[in-house]
Amino acid sequence: MTLQLIMLGPPGAGKGTQAGKLADHFDIPHISTGQILRNNKDMETPYGTPRSYIEDGNLVPDEMMIEILEKRLQEDDTDDGYILDGFPRTRPQAVSLADITDIDAVIYLRTSEENILKRLTGRRTCEDCGRTYHIEMNPPPDDDQCESCGGAIVQRADDRESVVRDRLEEYQEKTKPLIEFYREKGTLLEIDGNPSIEEVWTQLKDRLDDTLDNVDTT
Ligand code: AP5
Ligand code: MG
Repeated sequence: MTLQLIMLGPPGAGKGTQAGKLADHFDIPHISTGQILRNNKDMETPYGTPRSYIEDGNLVPDEMMIEILEKRLQEDDTDDGYILDGFPRTRPQAVSLADITDIDAVIYLRTSEENILKRLTGRRTCEDCGRTYHIEMNPPPDDDQCESCGGAIVQRADDRESVVRDRLEEYQEKTKPLIEFYREKGTLLEIDGNPSIEEVWTQLKDRLDDTLDNVDTT
């Protein structure tokens, strides 16, 4: 069985949190394009460094992103499938992904702007593995060392409120149209991202089980 999933939704919707749970549940890799870019933020490319885009709340150019993603999908751990978290984010990215693979389900986390702002400004992230915490709702250990890998837990440079607003604008303009793109393809699973992490997870797992019962994932 192979399983190819996409997490879609605004910044702070809970994509990374729920993708991590899906990765454990199905034993497939969680591929976060944001995390790949943060791990390579000073990499020189013909378009500049990823840092210059991320820290201003802008998307990196499609050409840069598609090349990185294609390379990542060629690694051996993707043989049984994967969860894409943060890709695609523009129509050209979605079209190029459709050229290289089939997608079983696109999970769209619909989350209010009020919750997004609260979640992102309180978020803390492991510098090494990307595991997320929240100062109130999911507090990091007292020593600020990641429970998964021991890395340092820090605030992401793009989680300052002014940058969060720019990221939300990019989302509205470039990524939100993908909801309709996947709805038309019949692969969209719309989930309410506002309740607690566990409630969202239960809802997501039930809806996904129902969908996968009707999909041939061989
Ligand atoms: P990326 O890292 O993908 O960031 P994002 O999409 O802005 O989303 P976030 O990671 O901020 O939020 P999330 O939905 O994962 O929420 P999380 O689970 O952490 O991208 C960063 C940048 O990289 C982009 O701005 C762009 O520059 C570049 N980039 C990446 N991909 C790109 C692409 N394809 N093309 C071009 N550029 C690209 O949750 C947030 C917080 O809330 C956490 O603290 C968590 O603990 C908490 N939380 C989660 N769920 C709940 C809940 N249900 N209740 C209460 N708290 C919750
Ligand atoms: Mg994330």
